[in-house]
Amino acid sequence: MNIEELIGRMTPEQKAAQLTQLGAQMLGDPDHPDITGLVAALDVSREELDTVGSTLNTSGPKARLAIQRAHMAADPNHIPLVFMQDVIHGYRTVYPIPLAMAATFDPALVRELAAMAAEEASAAGVDVAFSPMVDVSRDARWGRVMESAGEDVYLNCVMADAQVRGYLDGGMLSCVKHYAAYGAGEAGRDYNAVDISEGRLRERYLPPYKAAIDAGARCVMPSFNSLNGIPSVANPWLMNTVLRGEWGFDGVVVSDYGAVGELLRHGICGSGGDAAELALSCGCDLEMMTPHYLHSLKRLLSEGRVTMEQVDACVRRVLELKQRLGLFDRPEGRTDPEKYAALALSPDNRRKARLAAEQSAVLLKNDGLLPFDPGVKRVAVIGPYADDGMIMGFWSVNGRPEETVTLRRGIGQRLPGAEIRYAAGCSGEPVTDDASGLAEAAELADWAQQVILVLGESGLHSGESQSRARLELSDAQLALFRTVQAHCESTAVLLMCGRPLAIPELAREARAILCMWQPGLEGGSAAARLLYGDVSPCGHLPMSFPVTTGQEPVSYDMMTTGRMPEDPWHSEGAAFHTRYLDCPVMPLYPFGFGLTYTEFRFSDERLSAPVLTADGSLTASCTVTNTGSREAACVVQLYLRDPVASTVRPVRELKGFRRLTLAPGASAEVAFTVTEPMLRFMTAAKGFASEKGAFDVWLAPDAVSGVPLRFELV
Ligand code: NOJ
Repeated sequence: MNIEELIGRMTPEQKAAQLTQLGAQMLGDPDHPDITGLVAALDVSREELDTVGSTLNTSGPKARLAIQRAHMAADPNHIPLVFMQDVIHGYRTVYPIPLAMAATFDPALVRELAAMAAEEASAAGVDVAFSPMVDVSRDARWGRVMESAGEDVYLNCVMADAQVRGYLDGGMLSCVKHYAAYGAGEAGRDYNAVDISEGRLRERYLPPYKAAIDAGARCVMPSFNSLNGIPSVANPWLMNTVLRGEWGFDGVVVSDYGAVGELLRHGICGSGGDAAELALSCGCDLEMMTPHYLHSLKRLLSEGRVTMEQVDACVRRVLELKQRLGLFDRPEGRTDPEKYAALALSPDNRRKARLAAEQSAVLLKNDGLLPFDPGVKRVAVIGPYADDGMIMGFWSVNGRPEETVTLRRGIGQRLPGAEIRYAAGCSGEPVTDDASGLAEAAELADWAQQVILVLGESGLHSGESQSRARLELSDAQLALFRTVQAHCESTAVLLMCGRPLAIPELAREARAILCMWQPGLEGGSAAARLLYGDVSPCGHLPMSFPVTTGQEPVSYDMMTTGRMPEDPWHSEGAAFHTRYLDCPVMPLYPFGFGLTYTEFRFSDERLSAPVLTADGSLTASCTVTNTGSREAACVVQLYLRDPVASTVRPVRELKGFRRLTLAPGASAEVAFTVTEPMLRFMTAAKGFASEKGAFDVWLAPDAVSGVPLRFELV
């Protein structure tokens, strides 16, 4: 296809439509409910519908083929639509939420699962996934932390890279989102304003978007939030200076859902025309689900408020994306209903989803209760999420809760010789003190030899627009915990959550806590295998768990202050220091933390040299030994600190990690290469650079333990 020739033929109206993305239901998706309402609300004409450039969230392969066929016939220029979709943690075979996948600290596994999602999704007709979401998430009140790799910038970069490459392996392009710093919304409230210094932004928030682009993401979605006063889609510094300028991004920018229209609600534009002008001048190529390009572009051109060169640059990028996807030659893309039917929920894909759920589980506490004896005869599975298909997690657009192996079912399948009884015990709403299920739960706990108590939050209570002001368990869940634990000593808590929760009482009183996150549709089988010791839990926290909501945002890489308490774990009494009167500075469980069914000993931590030169390298290494009696994986984490610098530095920063599986009694050497670029930060004078002097290095099993080694950058 000769793109320039095509652009030359297009009318201004057709160009405006080419720069518009509308929901598949508006384009006649037969499996979606009637949408005459939406078409009317957006005031879109038949001609406009026939010439739009893109659509989102189609119901499946048949719909994709039908929509594209009708579109190719109706569009006078016969330009294929590009189909985009939220494929966040699997398509039909839903695997654990991204936060859980980050807890694996296993980018190879993340890539494999992303490839699986892409194979299913592309066979179902998806050309571009609205993923990965790489918003560094440091405040657990924000519901969308579940979509990210958590609080650390380096871990987010690694997982961004793994997902983008995995999608490419499976034949799908990706749209990285939400550029930028959507995770830093004030007070953890979704869509809220973000105000953040350029230094912080460049050190902590921007690198994962860049990592995704470097890995091959061809689309970028600006975030809903305003950044330092300007909404992202209309933020010239973010879009023109950094994204297109510094990073040289030449792919497609897709606004988030309705975000161009929201420029009016933000109060920075007085009309749809102003919004279109602003977004276009910031290089927003596709306007998702508002009609301001459609309705204003022609007028803006005639008034000289936007130029034809600007419009053509956007159209060119959209058409180039279609060309890259081969859509001009094969409008159906990779859509293949038969292939899709063979892949979706195939035994192999279910096996991969189960494996991922096993690998992402984090054992937070265990006094020796776990693993349970599988020879048991009477097991009670109790709790509001114990038989709930939504444990698969939010943002599973094509997943079906009825296809989930619930915890009750998974335990039953694992223990064919045992009697399994179930009670919900209480409601799963985030705020409730309804105690009407307690008596039944107590009775069951009396009867049972083992209780698996499933607490936390529903899969429907994290994700977009699911911010919480309380991260504590509801009164009803706490009452259920106390009751069940009092009636059965062998009670293990399974924590289901899309974010860190504040669970100090469980941490104190429970005998075992296994955090399963929202584990996808094989969650029940994975939990059963973990609880009964077929596999050892080995996930590590990608976000700190707070003692109480009031600590949020709390993360391991806090900035050094002039008033650090000597013992931040017991800092309540440290007057005139940075502290809380009523809880410690440190979280309940820190970033990087995770137990397993064996013990690992770290020894012989050493540096290959005491000095690092700007163009040289040194090696930081240690020996890890499995001193227990079970095989398990351990994650060795490399942290650095710059103790004297021209700007205040974090107390530690993750710079590398290595996951390795060791048999009982086995040892391995783990070595990391340290180079000067790893030491760079936003200095007071020189921009992004390193500064000579001492550096501390830790090789540790989490973000708070270990003894530092020291070297000198010369
Ligand atoms: C809004 C969300 O913010 C974004 O992540 C998603 O991709 C779009 N809706 C499309 O569904």
